[in-house]
Amino acid sequence: MDEKKILFSAIQPSGILTIGNYLGALRNFKKLQDDYNGVFAVADLHTLTVKQDPAILRKNTYELTALYLACGIDPEKSVLFAQSHVSAHTELAWILNTICYPGELSRMTQFKDKSQKHEDNINMGLMDYPVLMAADILLYQTELVPIGADQKQHLELARDLAIRFNNRFGETFKVPEGYIGKTAARVMSLAEPERKMSKSDANLNAFISMDDDPDTVLRKFKRAVTDSDDKICYSPEKPGISNLLTIYCAFTDKTFEQAEAEFAGKGYGDFKMAVGRAVAEKIEPIRQEKNRLLGDKAYLDEVLKNGAERAERLAYRTLNKVYKKVGLVLRKRG
Ligand code: TRP
Repeated sequence: MDEKKILFSAIQPSGILTIGNYLGALRNFKKLQDDYNGVFAVADLHTLTVKQDPAILRKNTYELTALYLACGIDPEKSVLFAQSHVSAHTELAWILNTICYPGELSRMTQFKDKSQKHEDNINMGLMDYPVLMAADILLYQTELVPIGADQKQHLELARDLAIRFNNRFGETFKVPEGYIGKTAARVMSLAEPERKMSKSDANLNAFISMDDDPDTVLRKFKRAVTDSDDKICYSPEKPGISNLLTIYCAFTDKTFEQAEAEFAGKGYGDFKMAVGRAVAEKIEPIRQEKNRLLGDKAYLDEVLKNGAERAERLAYRTLNKVYKKVGLVLRKRG
């Protein structure tokens, strides 16, 4: 890898991804990989912290790999791999565990939320999740981490652990910066626009999945909740229309002013169809390319294999340094 800064990102293979995930993360990766050395992981070990059907987890790992590729990740330019293929992640997580305090983990918002949601399965992995995430990031001497707003606390912990380790054992880790994209946090439910769009919404019409075909996309937008008057403008009093405008502008690269002018005097019906078409136009080619790639498992396995080899070389450089600093005798090889 050349001297560009390292960017690390990971997504869990936990099933559906919405257009919120696309706008907040996936969409930006293609461009970012030109300016940074991109390291992109399928965070399969993180997914195990809530109960999984093994066959479905395996399928989702291929799905997400194909989706990364379909969104424009170039496996020659960037490193694309499965977290579980590079054991340095769990090894570093262990070392970081020895400098992390239980209180730091038990007060994490996401841990508290997930403990409530998965009352029957509050496991150590769920609590330790942010430490594994810190290991993901710190192993690559990452400088930039694009994240959703919900991961801000976790990134803060990664920074704290990096600084703590460096202070205790000498300069070892780069301290990463987070980057929260503009639209990342703002795509709301189509049914209840006061709430964030979520793939786990029981109402399937509340979100647009990256797997929705154009007919489904149009149908869902047709049903999207709007507001009582019929003026198409962005306003905090009009959460439904404002959300649709946000989505429309994100998918068309237009400003609110341009979109408002375009739909001045038009009805909600026309507007909703236009939003649906703009979204379908962008995500349909991705869906098709993803499905094409899924038909070629051998290729996906090859991509993951090469990715793991490249990731491993980078990761072990850091891990060896860490092992040495803390006083472990390095294994002699060859
Ligand atoms: N926890 C992240 C999420 O659910 C996924 C993730 C795992 C991640 N490791 C990471 C994100 C490292 C950024 C950096 O969104």
